[in-house]
Amino acid sequence: MNGFQLSNTTKIEFGAGILERVGEIVKGYGASRVLLHCDGGDVLGKTGVLGKVRTSLIEAGIFAEEVGGVESNPKLEKAKEAIALCKEKQIDFIVALGGGSTIDSAKCIALGAVYEGDVWDFYGEAPLSMPQRALPVAAVLTLPATGSESNNSSVITKEPDLKRAVDTEFVRPVVAFLDPTVTYTLPAFITAAGVVDMISHIMERYFVRGCGNELTDQLCEAAMRSGIYYGRKVLEEPDNYEIRANLMYLSTITNNGVLAAGRDMDLASHMIEHELSGEFNIVHGAGMAIVIPAWMEYVCREYPEIFIKYATHVWNIPYDFREPESVIPLGIEATRDFYREMGMPEKLHELVPEEKLTDDVLWKLAQRVRRYHKDGTVGSIMRLDTQELFEIMKAVV
Ligand code: NZQ
Ligand code: ZN
Repeated sequence: MNGFQLSNTTKIEFGAGILERVGEIVKGYGASRVLLHCDGGDVLGKTGVLGKVRTSLIEAGIFAEEVGGVESNPKLEKAKEAIALCKEKQIDFIVALGGGSTIDSAKCIALGAVYEGDVWDFYGEAPLSMPQRALPVAAVLTLPATGSESNNSSVITKEPDLKRAVDTEFVRPVVAFLDPTVTYTLPAFITAAGVVDMISHIMERYFVRGCGNELTDQLCEAAMRSGIYYGRKVLEEPDNYEIRANLMYLSTITNNGVLAAGRDMDLASHMIEHELSGEFNIVHGAGMAIVIPAWMEYVCREYPEIFIKYATHVWNIPYDFREPESVIPLGIEATRDFYREMGMPEKLHELVPEEKLTDDVLWKLAQRVRRYHKDGTVGSIMRLDTQELFEIMKAVV
């Protein structure tokens, strides 16, 4: 097992009805002048979710300003608009109400509100500045998917198409409110994309070279099997509390460090998808459904052991004692079948007009993929260079 640090400081407030206590609870964290930052659409307004949070803030005697209209793949400009408001109104606490996009945007605002320069300085692989502090953030989650509600990441798009992240403990929410009943209104496609995304976060922890960490291998396998089980169930019974509750808790544990303790991560598939969703503004989880099987096919021969384990432990494909590697394609096919069952696209051209998917564009994106190794490669099972990233992108068109 690798040495590790695990800081998991977000308090989880879980259960039906918890939104009525948002004001009282954030007040306990010192909130007196709040920015309420919300999703773009009007579903949360119409269903009364937004009203509940507003009322709870008023009842707690908290001054609140609102900035709504956060788009998926959240934009820097919207965050900057809110940063200016926070400075003008002396906001001391941010409450995000929405999915990963809104929570990530709230984290960006939290950094920018206490910084004199351009908040974009903190983003990307070569940041111009390192965060020194941020306003505290609370996350009221309405879409289980990214795990942003209890992690230290914020992913923002600088228009037209540059999607970049910052990872800093200053933005980890102090508290996350998880009421599974607010997810009943999620459309099937968005629910399914969320399930794919949460499973993909487990995969990027699971598909690494052996490090003697059987405990987290098994936790990852259990988490993937739960995601598959409840993913199938939720499309049949979208209003079932237990199903929604299991998915909501799963989203939170898949990306808050617990499943990464003592092991490497292979972030290549996410880094590829971020270029695709930055460029084409596609739904992140749907992008992951497209990229993952192609990535698996490309890298699996580099470390077959973990892909054999995946096929047999997650998909229950019988171990083949004479030819163990023969189960690898079966595991990948089972993954594709599951995504298909969940209504996810298999190829990029299902979401993006084909004329935009030229070799020139894909090469530009392959060059732009974020690298985290000094040799300019990305990935762990297999370190991918620009040509290899381009080949994976070509395979998903
Ligand atoms: O805007 P409206 O119309 O309200 O619809 C939203 C949104 O369009 C809808 N929605 C949310 N809650 C709802 C609801 N509709 C009905 N009922 C509800 N209760 O869902 C749509 C998608 O929301 P969004 O927040 O964009 O999705 P998601 O949570 O998947 O977030 C995606 C963003 O997070 C980033 C992605 O790259 C992408 O930008 N990620 C952030 C990560 C992190 N911070 O750790 C890690 C992830 O891997 C990911 O990269
Ligand atoms: Zn993701």
